[in-house]
Amino acid sequence: MVHPVRRLAVLGSTGSVGTQTLDVVRAFPDRFDIVALAAGRNLELLQEQIAEFDPEYVLCEDTSALPSLGAKPCASLEDMASLPQVDIVMVATVGAAGLRPTLRALEAGKTVALANKEVLIMAGDQVMAASRRFDNPIFPVDSEPSAILQCMLGEEDDIRKLIITASGGAFRDKSPDELAAVTPEQALQHPTWKMGRKITIDSATLVNKAFEVIEAHWLFDMPYDQIDVVIHRQSIIHSMIETADGVIKAHLGSPDMRYPIQYALFYPERVFNPGLKPFDPVEIGQLTFEAMDPKLYPCFELAIDIGSRKGTWPSALMGADEAAVELFLARRIKFTEIPHVIQSVIDDHQAIDNPNLDEVILAAEWAAERARANVGAPR
Ligand SMILES: NC(=O)c1ccc[n+]([C@@H]2O[C@H](COP(=O)([O-])OP(=O)(O)OC[C@H]3O[C@@H](n4cnc5c(N)ncnc54)[C@H](OP(=O)(O)O)[C@@H]3O)[C@@H](O)[C@H]2O)c1
Repeated sequence: MVHPVRRLAVLGSTGSVGTQTLDVVRAFPDRFDIVALAAGRNLELLQEQIAEFDPEYVLCEDTSALPSLGAKPCASLEDMASLPQVDIVMVATVGAAGLRPTLRALEAGKTVALANKEVLIMAGDQVMAASRRFDNPIFPVDSEPSAILQCMLGEEDDIRKLIITASGGAFRDKSPDELAAVTPEQALQHPTWKMGRKITIDSATLVNKAFEVIEAHWLFDMPYDQIDVVIHRQSIIHSMIETADGVIKAHLGSPDMRYPIQYALFYPERVFNPGLKPFDPVEIGQLTFEAMDPKLYPCFELAIDIGSRKGTWPSALMGADEAAVELFLARRIKFTEIPHVIQSVIDDHQAIDNPNLDEVILAAEWAAERARANVGAPR
């Protein structure tokens, strides 16, 4: 059977998810064509990617600094996400950057593979309304919602609960007292996943897990009280669902982002990738589950409380967290001060109930600036 070549735009091609997306493309050169690549500041890597994948369009923070390599500059991420030559848009940017491009891609009828989960945190109702309006489903690239999606196939009407697993991050064995002295270098050592800097710190605070709960709420239209989180150190079960009869379906596999990336890019096809290490249950031996200790992760409940509100609250949470992570990485605040910085911003936030997109984005920008100002850091 001859399969049509899938034409891709990768937004955030130089990041952790972006480079792993290109790894999958590299493994299946006859199945994908890279039409467009967008990055931020990593010009060196972007140049290498242009030389290897020969995209028609590129975009980065300073396109004029790129030597002419035959690719045309795109005016914006939104334009790139709606290019007529593109079938699939991989949204692998971070923070607010992916919001408008995701909406534009949905509107243009592109298949949207969404890694940039903050898009759903900031504007879950608008994004899911667009997905419904244009009858265009979103394919999550995050391993947990991808696992849930795969468990849900054939069970859509009979689900009682989603159970999201969490590794517990870099500091799962530290006491609350020890956490005050941890360094950015320690926080960036994730026990099971290799990821970008922001998501790795968000994994240590469990803000990332709160974001995944919110993401799952929007993607699967599931009430918050039917979404549980359990600490599962091995990161082998990526998530589970409980069906109406009490049966648990779990999705297992090696902690390698190329699996959910490949699932989103090939859907509904299943294709063997010889470059991925096969999962061996005997090698893993044991799977463990623990309740999460809220004292160790004060950010989790804070983020769920704010992120599950309506209006601009979730966007302010996203901006405050992004800035708090930057401030911690820059050694301006301690790890244990991250929840206080977020709370201080939220205390000052004047929320808008039914914001338009500009107001959603402005709320995140305002929150990030307020976080920096509250800490007395330069902008
Ligand atoms: N990494 C993972 O394993 C993983 C797993 C699940 C979900 N996610 C989610 O996926 C998203 C990406 O995570 P990541 O870990 O891949 O992040 P990352 O390594 O920091 O990469 C972010 C990418 O976005 C680019 N970028 C940033 N701002 C941009 C802008 N305005 N325009 C164009 N490109 C821009 C960066 O470019 P430069 O580097 O060139 O500046 C980089 O290519 C996040 O939302 C994260 O939560 C990640």
